Amino acid sequence: MGGIYSHTPTRPDLQSEETMEKIHLIINGTEYAAEVEPRLLLVHFLRDQLGMTGTHVGCDTTSCGVCTVVLNGKAVKSCTMFAVQADGARVITVEGLAQDGKLHAIQEGFHEEHGLQCGFCTPGMQMTTYAFLTKNKDANPSEEDIRWAISGNLCRCTGYVNIVNAVKYAAKKMYAAEQAPVEKPAVTPPEPTAEPVRAGNGGGGQ
Ligand code: FES
Ligand code: FES
Repeated sequence: MGGIYSHTPTRPDLQSEETMEKIHLIINGTEYAAEVEPRLLLVHFLRDQLGMTGTHVGCDTTSCGVCTVVLNGKAVKSCTMFAVQADGARVITVEGLAQDGKLHAIQEGFHEEHGLQCGFCTPGMQMTTYAFLTKNKDANPSEEDIRWAISGNLCRCTGYVNIVNAVKYAAKKMYAAEQAPVEKPAVTPPEPTAEPVRAGNGGGGQ
């Protein structure tokens, strides 16, 4: 995908050249190179320097999960990580879910099952769901497993029932086809032989 995008800090007046560190990472399939202060949180790098505001900030203390992104296949709270710690990583944010203008199965699930009201928790919920389903690869995850998977994400609106249904919807859409039992081809009975085989001793008595 594309070339390497370089980014300079949006508030150069607050940056000190001596403390800047170079980072290089792949976000939603695109390579980015940037210079950041060591104290810059990943969520602020995504939002303020790259303009990826789909990743939200809520508590800023690792409690609510709205800042969740997928980093090297795992759901991480980007308010708890420095951007420099993500150096060399592959990151997926909510902006990376839809492809070619088509919603991802997870986004479709939240839409179809009414898995959101205000939508503030939704990007984090969806990225946690993405990490869970891509690891689990099960078309029918149990309700207990789903609730455990999203237990680090808080929603103040929906009461979780519809979110769980949205995850179930997405799991089916992502994996039902590949887990459907393969139909065995019908066995054709052999043609009857012209001469019935005679039972008994055909070779003469002894
Ligand atoms: S903003 Fe990161 S967990 Fe709440
Ligand atoms: S939909 Fe409002 S916080 Fe979850």
